[in-house]
Formats: sequence, structure tokens, C-alpha cells
Amino acid sequence: MKITIFNGSPKAENSNTHFMVEQFTKGAQQAGAEVENVFLAKKDIKPCKGCFSCWLKTPGNCVIKDDMAELLEKIKGSDILVFATPLYVDNVTGIMKIFMDRIIPVGDPHIEKDENGESVHVNKHGKAPKLVVISNCGFPEQSHFQVLELLFKRIARNLRTEVVGEIYRGGGAILKEAPLILKPLTMKYSKLLQKAGREIAENSRLSKETRAELEKPLIPVDTYIAAANKYFDQLLSKD
Ligand SMILES: Cc1cc2nc3c(=O)[nH]c(=O)nc-3n(C[C@H](O)[C@H](O)[C@H](O)COP(=O)(O)O)c2cc1C
Repeated sequence: MKITIFNGSPKAENSNTHFMVEQFTKGAQQAGAEVENVFLAKKDIKPCKGCFSCWLKTPGNCVIKDDMAELLEKIKGSDILVFATPLYVDNVTGIMKIFMDRIIPVGDPHIEKDENGESVHVNKHGKAPKLVVISNCGFPEQSHFQVLELLFKRIARNLRTEVVGEIYRGGGAILKEAPLILKPLTMKYSKLLQKAGREIAENSRLSKETRAELEKPLIPVDTYIAAANKYFDQLLSKD
């Protein structure tokens, strides 16, 4: 089982996303998976030009010469792809979006209808890697991830695969640098992330039970809002 994790936070290893990825990785490795972690912020990935050369002139190969060729090979060699991103403006980060656009060389331009009668590109690869989503955001509720839930469902459809795990953490801004008083909570959450990694490695799927546990708030929403506002007031009152 080969799992490749693409982290789209501009903060790379200093990100809350990485806090989640590290624990997930630990669990997956314990269950025997080979896990590779790619910091997209450290890669040279230019935006797609929209020329469709990768479909029509040099099938499978993009005309842009940057790190994306190496990343496409990693995608093709994986059983599971993990898209790990903080929530930016209710969506993935710009870094992640540029990376996602550049995945189109793996596709085929021909169109057919899927089982629901909706157009989709022909699957030329057979078995595509399954998808896992890991995300955290600044607002405390889980409702902020509704755009990502729909987005990755649609991406999986386009890639002719499925989402086998979604790990969303509202109020995730406290993960990386949790005050001492919150450490027991983040440690408990870390164990759950490890469990999620183990489940993906063992069953290629996150169980409903573990997902439900992962969805529970770390701290009550009103406590989070009060603490965040106090913190912002302190920062803003500094000379
Ligand atoms: C440009 C920008 C946009 C953001 N948009 C949202 C948002 O729409 N909703 C939200 O809850 N948090 C938003 N945030 C907060 C981040 O999701 C939050 O700080 C997160 O913990 C960052 O994760 P990271 O440390 O993994 O990079 C935004 C942050 C930035 C910098």
C-alpha cells in the first residue's frame, strides 16, 4: 500500500495541516503502509496554461517544465492520494488548486456518460488511486467544510475514483501550538488521527465510527470564539 500525501499549506512543516498529516502518517506506517509526504509549497508548480497539449499534442505530458512531471509519477504509483490543505476562503489553498489543475495530463479528452447519464471523461487508466482529504480551518464549526466535501466528491467522479476518507478539523488553528492546558485534548485527537491512518492503510477506508469521533469539537465553540477574540485583542494592542 503506497500512500502519497500532498500538503497544500504555504506553511509546510509549520502548518496545522502538517500536525494532522504527521499523526495520520504515524498510524498508516504502523499498519505497514509506505507513506510519502510532499510539501507542495516547496515545489516549483506553475499554473496550467490551458493549452490542452497534454491531451492532444504530447498525450500524458505537460509542456511546462517544472516539478509537476515528478509529482504525476508519484500519483500514478500510489494506491491512495491524500489531499491535505487548510481551508482558504472556504476552499483549498491556491497552491493546492494549481497542483490539482496540473493533474489533467493523466486524463483522456474523450467524453462518455456515467451511470447517472452525466458527461465525464473516458477512463483510460482502469484503476485510479483512491482519495483521502485532510483539512483544518480557523472557524470552530465543522460546517465550514461543506464546499470541500462537494469539491472532492466531484473531483473523485472526474478521476473515476472515490473518496475513502475525509478528516476535517474546525478550530484547527490551535493544533500546532496548543497551550499547555489544551495538550490533553490535542493528544487525544492525535490518537484518533493515527487510528484513521491505520484504517486507511488496513481497509482502504475510514470507518463511520472514527469519522464521527474526528468530527467532535476539540473545545466548545463559544469557548473557542472567546479565546480567539481575547488573543486577537492582545495582539492588536501591542505597540
Ligand atoms: C487567506 C486565508 C483564508 C482563510 N480562509 C478561511 C475560511 O474561509 N474559513 C476558515 O475557517 N478559516 C480560514 N482561514 C484560516 C485557516 O484555515 C487557518 O488559519 C488554518 O489553521 C491554517 O492552516 P495551516 O496552519 O495548516 O496552514 C484562512 C486563512 C487564510 C490565510
